[in-house]
Amino acid sequence: MKKITILGAGTWGTALAAMLKKENGHDVVLWSAIPNELDELSRSKKHPNLEGLVLPDGIIFESEITQACRGADFIVFAVPSLYVRETAKKIALSLDEKTIIVDVAKGLEKGTGMTLCEVIEDEIGRKNGGIVALSGPTHAEEVALGMPTAIVAASENAEAAEAVQREFSGSFFRVYTNSDIKGIEICGAMKNIIAICAGISTGLGYGDNARAAIVTRGMAEITRLGVAMGCSGRTFESLAGIGDLVVTCMSRHSRNHRAGVLIGKGYSAEEAKKEVGMAVEGLNALPAALELSERLCVELPFCHALSEVIMGTLDVKEAVNSLMLRALKPEISSDKQ
Ligand SMILES: NC(=O)c1ccc[n+]([C@@H]2O[C@H](COP(=O)([O-])OP(=O)(O)OC[C@H]3O[C@@H](n4cnc5c(N)ncnc54)[C@H](O)[C@@H]3O)[C@@H](O)[C@H]2O)c1
Repeated sequence: MKKITILGAGTWGTALAAMLKKENGHDVVLWSAIPNELDELSRSKKHPNLEGLVLPDGIIFESEITQACRGADFIVFAVPSLYVRETAKKIALSLDEKTIIVDVAKGLEKGTGMTLCEVIEDEIGRKNGGIVALSGPTHAEEVALGMPTAIVAASENAEAAEAVQREFSGSFFRVYTNSDIKGIEICGAMKNIIAICAGISTGLGYGDNARAAIVTRGMAEITRLGVAMGCSGRTFESLAGIGDLVVTCMSRHSRNHRAGVLIGKGYSAEEAKKEVGMAVEGLNALPAALELSERLCVELPFCHALSEVIMGTLDVKEAVNSLMLRALKPEISSDKQ
């Protein structure tokens, strides 16, 4: 039995807390920056976005972060990407050297282009038992109901990835390992942007053909960026790559896809975000993706079109049509790219 502290009592943090307690029998502590959220979870044993989940007894709800992290074997970052740096800063000084850090948030930091594990490492240094990105096609709504799910634990530290695999695996939750942490994180951040584009196409009334084209060409776009950043091309064929992209572009649980549908129907990005009511990480990751595109001279047509749609400089229908019909540069017009 291990002590696992989960930072962030949103949809994913809560679903993981319930699974790790009930299925795996760990000592689980759940922390949130919003004390009312913890009070409500502890009182009702339910999360408003996780239908059918009743939280098991024994989860400790703790609003003081240093106390929550004390003696933890694993600390899981499950806060939205925008809060990862400030949360890492809060635990940096009191972190135990043996604690393994697990990031499940998906995003890229605006201004630095860092992945979230890089942001965490930037704040806490290397004085820990390893940093692991845990990422894949894993909607919290399904994990909360015990539905079969597979995920990737990626780290440069093989022992840390294997420890996550051992302690987080269960009867319905299968954990694979991978050493290309940066590639796995790029997949997780970028697929949300492509899912917004797929949603926009759906919102415009386009069908499965357009969506399949967006998924496939979107994967090429993600791979292009990742390879330019030094990641292995094979990473993008993994569960956390094509697997997560497919689920995010297709599933009714995807809030990025849902936000895209609303934008396709004429909502502004702000209105869509408000309507979805939960983290829409594709919108948060977009500025960093554009910065990386420029810095590395990598063409990211979906990202640029989405940015123009959001700024109102490109009509939404025009954007989808231009992506399908535009004159492509020879090096990215081959289906093999
Ligand atoms: N929901 C999923 O199925 C799922 C699956 C895999 C990964 N993720 C990733 O996990 C991360 C969290 O997503 P979610 O779905 O749980 O989000 P959510 O929208 O359900 O929860 C948002 C949470 O943010 C937290 N928060 C608000 N202000 C904060 C602050 N100042 N500091 C720290 N935390 C604050 C609150 O606890 C709130 O519950 C995202 O990066 C998401 O991409 C989600």
